[in-house]
Amino acid sequence: MTSILEQLTGAVSDAFAAAGLPRDLGVVIESGRPDLAPYQCNGALAAAKAAKANPRALAETVAAQLTAARPDLAVEIAGPGFLNITPQDALYDQRADALAADPRTGARTADKSLKVMIDFGGPNVAKPMHVGHLRSSVIGDCLQRLMRFRGHRVISDIHLGDWGLQMGQLITELEDEQPDLPYFDAGFTGPYPDEAPVTIDDLARLYPQASAKGKADPVRQERSRKATAELQAGRPGYRALLAHFIAVSVAALKDDFGALGVHFDLWKGESDVNDLIPAMVEDFKARGVAEESDGAWIVRVAREDDNKELAPLILVSSQGSALYATTDLATILERRREQDPELILYVVDLGQSDHFEQVFRAAVKAGLAQEGGLEHVKFGTVNGPDGKRLRTRAGGSFRLSDLIEEARARARQRLTEAGLGAELPPEAFEDVARKVANAAIKFSDLQNVRTTNYIFDLDRFVSFEGKTGPYLLYQAVRIGSLLRKAKGEGLEPGPVRTGHAAEAALVRRLDGFNAALERAEAGRAPHLLCEHAYSLAQAFSAFYTQCPILPEKDEAIRASRLRLAEAALAQLTLALDLIGMEAPERM
Ligand code: ARG
Repeated sequence: MTSILEQLTGAVSDAFAAAGLPRDLGVVIESGRPDLAPYQCNGALAAAKAAKANPRALAETVAAQLTAARPDLAVEIAGPGFLNITPQDALYDQRADALAADPRTGARTADKSLKVMIDFGGPNVAKPMHVGHLRSSVIGDCLQRLMRFRGHRVISDIHLGDWGLQMGQLITELEDEQPDLPYFDAGFTGPYPDEAPVTIDDLARLYPQASAKGKADPVRQERSRKATAELQAGRPGYRALLAHFIAVSVAALKDDFGALGVHFDLWKGESDVNDLIPAMVEDFKARGVAEESDGAWIVRVAREDDNKELAPLILVSSQGSALYATTDLATILERRREQDPELILYVVDLGQSDHFEQVFRAAVKAGLAQEGGLEHVKFGTVNGPDGKRLRTRAGGSFRLSDLIEEARARARQRLTEAGLGAELPPEAFEDVARKVANAAIKFSDLQNVRTTNYIFDLDRFVSFEGKTGPYLLYQAVRIGSLLRKAKGEGLEPGPVRTGHAAEAALVRRLDGFNAALERAEAGRAPHLLCEHAYSLAQAFSAFYTQCPILPEKDEAIRASRLRLAEAALAQLTLALDLIGMEAPERM
């Protein structure tokens, strides 16, 4: 199923070839001036430059070839030698009928299906999540949806941070609070009580307490460090506690992510690869990948042509412990053994760029991965209205559940203002609020170019107007209710017959879906998907304002418009789903 753009590019490329010019100059794009012509090709200018010829003359030769082969296209030469192309309505009609009949509304699958792992989310056990984790989750989930839809075999992994100093801090804090628990006994060997000694609220309280004490008191911090080392060395009581902490955190995280509609296939963490580390380190040493330096073992990763010197990766610290980079390398090893992906994407903030560069280079050096098989999908920070990194009122990081609740509260308020509260039973109302809140959070994040920073402004995000998630849901709801009404009146959709400019414009938007998906995948760029959904909603809105549907007397025109509306809703629903948004029935 080729798009109009592809068909036109094919025809114009043929015309360039027939005129003795390079085929690849025949690329057709949508014109910036649809009032003059909807499509254009600028290839004659490039051809003229290369051949030192007159661009208008070349354009005329190409235009003559094109009109001879495709008399159905109106071709004009504009300015210095642009080809302006206007197809007949029949081309739009055929394409619209094909799109409407296709459950994927024109979206094809990738030529080659890859096995991809996506490492995203990355919250840390016991530490509250911050908005960086939220961005990672929203972007990562969108990429997994997109890549699956494009036919790739995707495995997502949350990669919990469950192995650092924070675990030792929790252990010491808990020991001070409940010294009688069996876990602190050096001789503890089990049995492990099923019941965790802490709740998620305890964890949320214990960690900041421990962290504050550690900052104020070096002795205390040393105790936490020692507990971390003993945990990592396998002390049974501590391992039992770790298992509890992880279980309690994972249960809470599953609730939060579930409410947000973000899914992970694997709930693994840094601690899962601990057993792989000793042999991996020995192997790095034996093969000369790692070298000794001041009592530590490092991997040199700097390259001559780096414009900024990259520090060596520390594989084993001088105290003998494995660090963040070590667990990341061991995780690559584990993934290679268990899933053997062709590509691993790491959706993590920009601040960790050097870390990933070190890890990737070390992994390639050690033969754990191929060049290009590991990719850091980086993103910018979320800032408060003051332009600084977003914090809660108390100055700390956000808890995901608080953020979701705050978004829902605003969504409820907005929906109540719109009069929906009185019309829906409480449960249904709450479901709409959830969908609106999720759409607000996700779209406002994803619509930005990934690497830029953006300002967090919930009031704007939940607005039903402007470029927002709720606006898009609202458009989908509007089309849905129009179609239900038509059905209720016994009106059937029929073959598309475009006549109005707004209809052709809508078909052109629908036509661009596949290209938008291809580009969004290639650039790991969710904003291109958002852009498509938004421009589609706008094109529908313009069409709906200018082209009456239910009141239309001409039966064929009405049926055609119903089919266009159906196709628009189907494609919008697909696009929203890839963004991670779900339209309610009403709002
Ligand atoms: N837990 C880490 C953090 O909070 C993020 C993990 C990212 N993934 C990875 N494989 N390193 O910063």
